[in-house]
Amino acid sequence: MKVLITGASSGIGRDMARIMAQKADELVLVARDLKKLEELKQELESKTKVEIISIDLTSEENCKEIHNRVQNVDILINNAGFGDCGDFTKTSLEKEINMIKTNIIAYHILTKLYLIDMKNKDSGKILNVASIAGVMPGPLMATYYATKNYVVRLSEAIREELKKDKSKVQISILCPGPVNTNFNKVANVKFNLREANSMKVAEYAIKNLEKGKFYIVPGMDVKFARIGVRFLPNSIIAKFAYMAQKRKLGGN
Ligand SMILES: NC(=O)c1ccc[n+]([C@@H]2O[C@H](COP(=O)([O-])OP(=O)(O)OC[C@H]3O[C@@H](n4cnc5c(N)ncnc54)[C@H](OP(=O)(O)O)[C@@H]3O)[C@@H](O)[C@H]2O)c1
Repeated sequence: MKVLITGASSGIGRDMARIMAQKADELVLVARDLKKLEELKQELESKTKVEIISIDLTSEENCKEIHNRVQNVDILINNAGFGDCGDFTKTSLEKEINMIKTNIIAYHILTKLYLIDMKNKDSGKILNVASIAGVMPGPLMATYYATKNYVVRLSEAIREELKKDKSKVQISILCPGPVNTNFNKVANVKFNLREANSMKVAEYAIKNLEKGKFYIVPGMDVKFARIGVRFLPNSIIAKFAYMAQKRKLGGN
């Protein structure tokens, strides 16, 4: 089994790589930070074959190059992503454009290209790492929530197409709440909510991917939040989300 994981240099992606090293014949790990990828390769290569690709996913060409270089993938885990926090008129446009490229366009390209391959051989799994942020509006983190909403809606639609085609290919989404990773530092936030342990989230994700679940939502509190948003109008959810984000605004 060959597994490709983006955003494997840190956090949830790195922990999923550690778990997959016990199961896969071949791991392909993608991120920008070569040193961290090399350290992870050294840690895992006694367990499985590991290829690392240091590349920036904000470039469309780089995403297409990954697909050209890495063929016969059985499991694709689109995980690389980041956020930012602050009033929409005050946050950095450049950072947001890079966020849209990483969190949306790279997911879109890799999902499409590998899904075509998987459909042709009628096997394979794609795990798109979204967030609980993907099922609601997110004032003060507007762009990040919007990117994750894209991932959720895209994956839900693809899932239905696969069902209608009676395809054996599986697509799943991981929707965690706050997780203790490097995310906060990059997003300039301080979570006041309890943060989940990254390895526990990764273990839960892989276990449920193997079971064939579509919505993978780790933690009872996050499960309740997902149920809650189904019954409340978006205008009310936006008010709650605003209050929650306001409490965790970092240096902005
Ligand atoms: N932590 C949370 O609270 C939380 C909650 C829900 C969902 N998530 C989602 O979980 C995923 C993983 O995040 P994390 O929490 O594990 O954060 P993290 O520790 O900051 O890891 C993010 C990963 O994405 C990679 N990445 C970012 N920009 C990239 C780019 N342009 N090109 C290639 N790789 C890039 C980073 O690698 P390099 O810097 O080496 O490139 C790193 O490996 C993200 O999609 C995030 O939105 C996180």
